Amino acid sequence: MPGTKVTIFNNGPLRIEGDFEIVDQEGKAFGLGGRTAVAICRCGHSSNSPFCDGTHKRQNFTSTVTARDLPAPAKP
Ligand code: FES
Repeated sequence: MPGTKVTIFNNGPLRIEGDFEIVDQEGKAFGLGGRTAVAICRCGHSSNSPFCDGTHKRQNFTSTVTARDLPAPAKP
């Protein structure tokens, strides 16, 4: 079992929990206020991006995801 778990909710956000850090593209870490779980927006409508603020419900965001195996990465 990995130390970090990412759950993709149908019609909603990604939930990250466990041992993780979220950084911007410059590598600066977000202060998470001691949270051990956060929800990351998938709908693109959050006013608190990259975090989910629940707006996906009002936007009727739909995205159903089922776990699957990815193909092996392309060789360089
Ligand atoms: S997924 Fe919740 S606001 Fe975008």
